[in-house]
Amino acid sequence: MSDNSFGRLLRVTTFGESHGPAIGCVVDGCPPGIPLAPEDFSHDLARRATGKTRHTSQRHEADEVEILSGVFEGRTTGTPIALLVRNTDARSKDYAKIADQFRPGHADYTYLHKYGVRDPRGGGRSSARETTMRVAAGVIARKWLADRFGVQVRACVSQVAGLVPGRFDWDAVESNPFFWPDAGQVAELEAFMDALRKSGDSAGARVHVQALGVPPGWGEPVYGKLDAEIAAAMMSINAVKGVEIGAGFASVTQKGSEHRDLMSPEGFASNHAGGILGGISSGQPIDVSVAFKPTSSLRLPGATVDRSGAAVEVVTTGRHDPCVGLRAPPICEAMLALVLMDHALRHRAQNADVPPVTPKVPGG
Ligand SMILES: Cc1cc2nc3c(=O)[nH]c(=O)nc-3n(C[C@H](O)[C@H](O)[C@H](O)COP(=O)(O)O)c2cc1C
Repeated sequence: MSDNSFGRLLRVTTFGESHGPAIGCVVDGCPPGIPLAPEDFSHDLARRATGKTRHTSQRHEADEVEILSGVFEGRTTGTPIALLVRNTDARSKDYAKIADQFRPGHADYTYLHKYGVRDPRGGGRSSARETTMRVAAGVIARKWLADRFGVQVRACVSQVAGLVPGRFDWDAVESNPFFWPDAGQVAELEAFMDALRKSGDSAGARVHVQALGVPPGWGEPVYGKLDAEIAAAMMSINAVKGVEIGAGFASVTQKGSEHRDLMSPEGFASNHAGGILGGISSGQPIDVSVAFKPTSSLRLPGATVDRSGAAVEVVTTGRHDPCVGLRAPPICEAMLALVLMDHALRHRAQNADVPPVTPKVPGG
């Protein structure tokens, strides 16, 4: 595997498997002087964690971050920041039965085909356990973006199967286990999830992730366009099947007169562009929508083949998320923050001396 790093000036590398001794990351290119302590990671890692409610996998990980390098006397030093999280609640025996079978919809078949060898325990490297380290790295990016630019990154679940929020209240999102923006629908979601779990099936979901306060100018046309790199970052998250920026696929049926975001000295009249024009941030909120497929590990029997090619029926037991999208908002936030910080540094490197020549158009 030769592609476990992303970002140009802020470069993040993750390593580790679901049931290995530990997972970790190296964050290189982080500016010096940022206050950083192990406690800084607790909040976001807890938001991503399993086992907090009956609606997620019941794996209970401590998710304690050890800072191995890059921090001295509580501040980043500009050298590589290495973070480590030990795996404390792996139950590998759950995977013994399916070690020689390919779960339909999972990465078992492609990993074995590509590498000729596979760590079946908890999905190995293809497990979403890896996203713990994205969230940890994202904590550093969020901190820097907030301190330097007042940028805020937030996310919510904006659809579960066919259910959409009746109203959109960001203040409700962190007060329920579904990151759901309509507090009045939480009971309905609980009932939906309970029935889903009982049925043994899984559901897909959509996550809306947004960055507020991004200044105009970030993004590197043409191959490093901000929207292109955000889309790639989101698509690199496990189980993601679609990414939309702004109006996304709805643009297909919009007229130009409807889609364009009219400008006045008071600001933009709408934000169908999702805060990005020509691959460069416009100063409007950056709006991204991410589609997560339904979990493939099901206890409902499904047809597959084993290593020898014989037809078998696979049944996945063990601990799984019935709706992986419900755990994804902190991961999407982290990926957006990491892309933005990388672009802030890249913009600074080339364009810090460019005087502002455009009038100020308030960001939506
Ligand atoms: C937060 C999160 C949790 C996940 N939990 C599970 C799980 O419990 N069981 C499972 O089979 N897949 C789970 N997945 C999805 C798999 O990791 C993913 O489907 C697999 O690696 C194959 O990759 P692909 O779906 O991107 O093709 C999860 C994904 C995310 C983002």
